[in-house]
Amino acid sequence: MPLVFFETFGCQMNVADADSLAAALAARGFTKTDTAAAADLVVVNTCSVRERAEKRALARIAELSAHKKRGGKHRLLWVTGCMAQRMGDALKRDFPAIDLVVGARDFERFVLDLDSALGTAHGGHAAALASGVSRFVAVMRGCDNHCAYCVVPQVRGPESSVPARAVEETVRALVDKGVCEVTLLGQNVNSYRDGDVDFPGLLRRLHAIDGLARIRFTTSHPKDCSEGLVRTMAELPKLCKHVHLPVQSGSTRVLSRMNRGYTAKGYLDTIDMIRTCMPQVDITTDVMVGFPGESVEDYQETLSLFTTVRFTTAFMFAYSRRDNTAAAAMPDSVDPREKQERLARLITLQTAITGEIYSAMVGRQLSVLITGRQDPKDGLWMGQDMGCKKVLAACKDCGAGTILPLRVARSTGKTLIGEGV
Ligand code: SAH
Ligand code: SF4
Ligand code: F3S
Repeated sequence: MPLVFFETFGCQMNVADADSLAAALAARGFTKTDTAAAADLVVVNTCSVRERAEKRALARIAELSAHKKRGGKHRLLWVTGCMAQRMGDALKRDFPAIDLVVGARDFERFVLDLDSALGTAHGGHAAALASGVSRFVAVMRGCDNHCAYCVVPQVRGPESSVPARAVEETVRALVDKGVCEVTLLGQNVNSYRDGDVDFPGLLRRLHAIDGLARIRFTTSHPKDCSEGLVRTMAELPKLCKHVHLPVQSGSTRVLSRMNRGYTAKGYLDTIDMIRTCMPQVDITTDVMVGFPGESVEDYQETLSLFTTVRFTTAFMFAYSRRDNTAAAAMPDSVDPREKQERLARLITLQTAITGEIYSAMVGRQLSVLITGRQDPKDGLWMGQDMGCKKVLAACKDCGAGTILPLRVARSTGKTLIGEGV
C-alpha cells in the first residue's frame, strides 16, 4: 500500500483541506504515515499569513527536497495551500524536486480530479477516512473583507458558501463514521449564506442531526457578530459555548487603519451582548502588535482591552508585512525590537489571565468530550469542555467519543486536570 505523509502549516482551514485530500487518497489505497522518510507521497500544506510561516514551510521543503535527491524513499513531493497559491510554479524553480504545486484556490477541484495528478485511475477500495471523533468542516471558503494586513483574500480568493445541503451530507457522513463533534470553518462564518439559509439557519439544520453531540465554529468577525447568532448559540444545547472573536487591536485608530469595520467600544459592546446571552461562555481572540503606526498609546489601549475583557486564551502575533496588502505601503513601521517587546508584555498579561480563569475552575463540574489519549503510555485521556478548555483525565472506562462529567481537580495554568464524579 502506498504511504502518504502530510506536513500541514497554518490554520484549521488547511487542516480541513488536508483531511479532504487524505480521504481522497485513502479511497485510492493510500495509508497515512507519520514519518516523511517512509512515505511514497509527501504533501507540504503551506500558510502565507506571516513571513515566519512561509520561512518554516520553505525550510521544510528544502529539507524534503534534499532528502529526495539523496535517493530517499519518497517518490512524490507536492506543495499545496496558501503559499503554493501565492508563489505558484516559481516554487518549482527554487526547488526542482517538487512534483506538483497546487494553490489553495485550486484545491477543491484538484481533489475531485485527483486521478489525473496520480497519473492512473487506481480502482481502489475505500480505506478508512482520517479517524477521530472531532472533525473540521469547511462551510465557507475565501474572504471578502480586506483587512489591511492580510494576505488571505489574495490566496484564498473571494468568499463563497458551501450549499447547506452539502454541509448536511458531509456532517451526516462523518457522524456515520463515528464523529461526534464538528467545527464549522470559515474566515467569517457570520456571513454564511445559501439562498435563504443564513448561518444561524445552518446551525439549526445541523443541530437536528442525530448522533452529533457538539457543534463548534470559527471564525466570527466582530463587525457582524449578530445578536441573532448569539441567541441561536445560547438556545441550542449542542452548540459549544465558545466564541472566537479576533479583536486585532484595542485602539480604534489602529482598527480603522486596519480596515476592520468596528471600534474598540463596538467590540466591547459585542462582548457584553455575548456574555449577557451566555454567562458561561469562553471568549478567545487573535491580536497583533506593531501594526504600522501603532503608537505606545495605541498599544496601551490593547493592553487595557485585554484587562477589561479577560479572554480565556488568545493567539498573539507581531505584525508581519505581506506584499500586495494595503498595509505593506503604510509608513511608520514599528522597530522590530519594540514590536517583540510589546508582544512579550501582552503575552505575559494574557498568560496570567488565562491562569486565573483556569484556577477559578477548580472544584467545578464540567461536561468533557474525550477526544483521544494524551500519550499511549500514560493512562491520561484528553478532552474538551463545552467551552474551549482542554481537560486531561485519568479514567478507566472512557474512550474517544465519550462525554463525561468531570470535576476539576487542579489547573496547570493552560490545562485542567479532571477527575471522575
Ligand atoms: N479570518 C480570520 C483570521 C485569519 S488569519 C479573522 O478574520 O479573524 C489568523 C490571524 O492571523 C488573524 O486574526 C491575525 O491576528 C493574524 N494575522 C493575519 N495577518 C497577519 C499579519 N500580516 N501579521 C501578523 N499577524 C497576522
Ligand atoms: Fe484576513 Fe480580515 Fe479576511 Fe480575516 S477577515 S481572513 S483577517 S481579510
Ligand atoms: Fe490559513 Fe494561513 Fe492560508 S492562516 S487561510 S493557511 S494563509
